[in-house]
Amino acid sequence: MTLIKEVDYGTPAAKSEKSVTLTIDGVSVSVPEGTSIMRAAMEMGTEIPKLCATDSLQSFGSCRLCLVEIEGRNGTPASCTTPVAPGIVVKTQTPRLKALRKGVMELYISDHPLDCLTCAANGDCELQTQAGAVGLREVRYGYEGANHFDEVKDQSNPYFTYDPAKCIVCNRCVRACEEVQGTFALTIDGRGFESRVAAGQDEPFLESECVSCGACVQACPTATLTEKSVISIGLPEHSAVTTCAYCGVGCTFKAEMRGEELVRMVPYKDGKANHGHSCVKGRFAWGYATHRDRILKPMIRASVSEPWREVSWEEAIGYAASEFKRIQAAYGKRSIGGITSSRCTNEETYLVQKLIRGGFGNNNVDTCARVCHSPTGYGLKTAFGTSAGTQDFDSIDNMDVMLLIGVNPTDGHPVVASHMKKRLRGGAKLIVIDPRRIDLVRTPHVEADYHLALKPGSNVAVVTALAHVIVTEGLVNEAFVRERCDWSEFQDWAAFVSEPRNSPEEVEKISGVPAELIRGAARLYATGGNAAIFYGLGVTEHSQGSTTVLAIANLAMATGNLGRPGVGVNPLRGQNNVQGACDMGSFPHEFAGYRHVSDDATRDVYESLWGVELDNDPGLRIPNMLDAAVEGEFRGIYIQGEDILQSDPDTHHVAAGLAAMECVVVQDLFLNETANYAHVFLPGSTFLEKDGTFTNAERRIQRVRKVMSPKNGYGDWEITLLLAKAMGFNMDYAHPSEIMDEVARTTPSFAGVSYARLDELGSIQWPCNAAAPEGTPVMHIGHFAAGKGKFVITEYVATDERTGPRFPLLLTTGRILSQYNVGAQTRRTDNVAWHPEDRLEIHPHDAELRGINDGEWVKLHSRAGETTLRALITDRVAPSVVYTTFHHPVTQANVVTTEFSDWATNCPEFKVTAVQVSRSNGPSEWQESYNRQAEQSRRILTNVEAAE
Ligand code: SF4
Ligand code: SF4
Ligand code: SF4
Ligand code: FES
Repeated sequence: MTLIKEVDYGTPAAKSEKSVTLTIDGVSVSVPEGTSIMRAAMEMGTEIPKLCATDSLQSFGSCRLCLVEIEGRNGTPASCTTPVAPGIVVKTQTPRLKALRKGVMELYISDHPLDCLTCAANGDCELQTQAGAVGLREVRYGYEGANHFDEVKDQSNPYFTYDPAKCIVCNRCVRACEEVQGTFALTIDGRGFESRVAAGQDEPFLESECVSCGACVQACPTATLTEKSVISIGLPEHSAVTTCAYCGVGCTFKAEMRGEELVRMVPYKDGKANHGHSCVKGRFAWGYATHRDRILKPMIRASVSEPWREVSWEEAIGYAASEFKRIQAAYGKRSIGGITSSRCTNEETYLVQKLIRGGFGNNNVDTCARVCHSPTGYGLKTAFGTSAGTQDFDSIDNMDVMLLIGVNPTDGHPVVASHMKKRLRGGAKLIVIDPRRIDLVRTPHVEADYHLALKPGSNVAVVTALAHVIVTEGLVNEAFVRERCDWSEFQDWAAFVSEPRNSPEEVEKISGVPAELIRGAARLYATGGNAAIFYGLGVTEHSQGSTTVLAIANLAMATGNLGRPGVGVNPLRGQNNVQGACDMGSFPHEFAGYRHVSDDATRDVYESLWGVELDNDPGLRIPNMLDAAVEGEFRGIYIQGEDILQSDPDTHHVAAGLAAMECVVVQDLFLNETANYAHVFLPGSTFLEKDGTFTNAERRIQRVRKVMSPKNGYGDWEITLLLAKAMGFNMDYAHPSEIMDEVARTTPSFAGVSYARLDELGSIQWPCNAAAPEGTPVMHIGHFAAGKGKFVITEYVATDERTGPRFPLLLTTGRILSQYNVGAQTRRTDNVAWHPEDRLEIHPHDAELRGINDGEWVKLHSRAGETTLRALITDRVAPSVVYTTFHHPVTQANVVTTEFSDWATNCPEFKVTAVQVSRSNGPSEWQESYNRQAEQSRRILTNVEAAE
């Protein structure tokens, strides 16, 4: 393997379709109009010396190294800021240019510490390279006099250092923070010789508004901004392109290695989802992969009160299989089941559902999408015929209006947020519907046109009120609806939304959103040009989650905002492979490709291929498995890469269900909370240790490439194969590519997908088949997958979870940028520097009423349970609403959430819980005891390690 080096063309590609021909160094070259001379030269293989230019940023023209001569023009213009023109004749190398460049370089070098041999960037420094390129052999000014050599390094950021002594003030970092990330955390302070890069108000990076995305580090041509991992390990020597294992954006990275040691993750410029950008998690938070808490040996125990016993793989797998067989013999074949993981690859997920359907002989398989985006699957399939988002992320460039509902991209989907911010700075309009003032409502150079701060639980009412305005004010795109949708269903729907009870004025009473804001937002969405809707768990995790998804689909159809770039309905998926897990048949009623288990033709395909008879009855969903366990009918479960005790609602009920089972098999990287109830623990592997694919929120299938051997001995897919074999259901694959080949052979929407095609195209958005051999970036062009688009009436039904004198506040939950879901990975990285604990956000008014000061411990209680955490007083939340994250197990936010769930899919109502908040003296007894136990097991594990 070699180190992948991407070409830097110096300036971004021009988008014009018009071509311009010019001559550079005697060679004729044609490039799109608007291309810089620097890029045109690079396109033909001539690299003009440069320092302040890089192709991820607009040109700036500050370093004066890239000068060229143009026949008939005076002076020596900078090639990075000078666009091509028809017929011009350019010279990139003349005696005059050489002298000028040397002079510039001499000035830079005279104030640069020449410690190249011990510098972390030695061999990867553009200053060093350009000094060589311009032929610098001496510095006439010497190295004496005023300089910056003694400037103090800022090491505050856990992942990178800032060494001002090495800064050449090229401004690339400042521009990267503005243009690529959109945070505007950096400035150039001072003038002339005193100029220096400053974070925030000239503070340490860690204390500034920097979100540690790494764009500035990536852009820096010198060692000024350098990854600490490069400083400690050295420069990488080989790399492979792989996909981030955190969120549903699906950023691709070059995993840069020395031997089997990961040196750094560098965002890949050719990544179709991220175009060379990243967030702090994918870029830096990979230390969990080698964390000492990782379990590397299988363990078993006869009962959960006994200590774990390390055993061989053979014994662990044999024990799990014999227990599952014993349970089935005693209680019937439907008495066991399994849960697939949205963190694992498509291939691994496919294998788990295959094991359950083919090996267990039932359909008791479910996935974490049950607790997040199952309403998306239901709602979008009902309305459009496909259970997935309609657009690619590049569609953002064509959007005129973005409507965000129940989604917080800057924290949950940061790279998409940066893309959105860029488009918003370019003039697109923004509507935010969220109980909380998310960052996008007001952030540097971006301000939402409307923020509808609705009461949690009133989504359906508000979206239906938007539709009321669109219908009653004549803003429907009738031509689109007549051509593309069921007209009679539309008429019924239009009559329903037009009813006075759905007017903004009536809905204001339910939602607390002023009617004029609803009216304004509806008009903007319907008339502002290309309008797109983005939504997240703030839509789905409600008792009416599916209804809101349907209401969103209605809105998009009524305004004709579907079937072309720049519009559409975009569910932002939480986990890296939640889309893929759903696609691969993880639901109890569907095979891969969303085909119902009762469909004889589909079952025939799998029965003949797998050589077994398949159950035609849908199996149990996760909550039903737990209910059945409590009732004694469900006795064994195989859980791959999920921590249901922490991520699912009503923790007490989950614990009771798990405790009632006779064999719980947990496969994970760490001894998670669910493992407290496990009898068999199978150590899992990280995304760095296996081959496979993930599918992101835009249906984009991307490769995951193995860059190191599994520390536990096996990739997760191999562990499932071992278990299947021990169960007597042989699944024979030599490589994950063969699993994908089987998916392609048996699933129409994946028919054209293979590893070879993925290598060739980089990524593929399904459907990919004979009709769309390169995949489908935008869906529903010309017609819906279902034929006619389906309008569904969306009656608002208030949740049964009501506030009252005992529980007067509404709790809603969400994520924070630096942490990820239940925190199993990010808590084991330096990301804890930003979010060491979950906090309860409470409005100053509610805090004052209760005598709560900022940072004090408070008790949060609901009718389901109680927990304690520290208060964060902020007006980001409206009065009567409180908010927390769920990243730390000691908080156990789900102890207080209720058993209510979406009527169609059982997705839990995480976003609405009636609570009371009161002062507290500190963590509750069980939290103290949890901390003690966690510390104890850490000590035991460390001792085991030390003993080895
Ligand atoms: S790491 Fe990202 S947010 Fe922080 S200063 Fe650099 S570009 Fe800006
Ligand atoms: S820190 Fe790096 S990118 Fe920023 S101005 Fe200095 S040398 Fe340029
Ligand atoms: S935005 Fe998501 S996919 Fe991209 S680096 Fe961050 S966590 Fe990974
Ligand atoms: S690279 Fe053109 S002026 Fe710096």
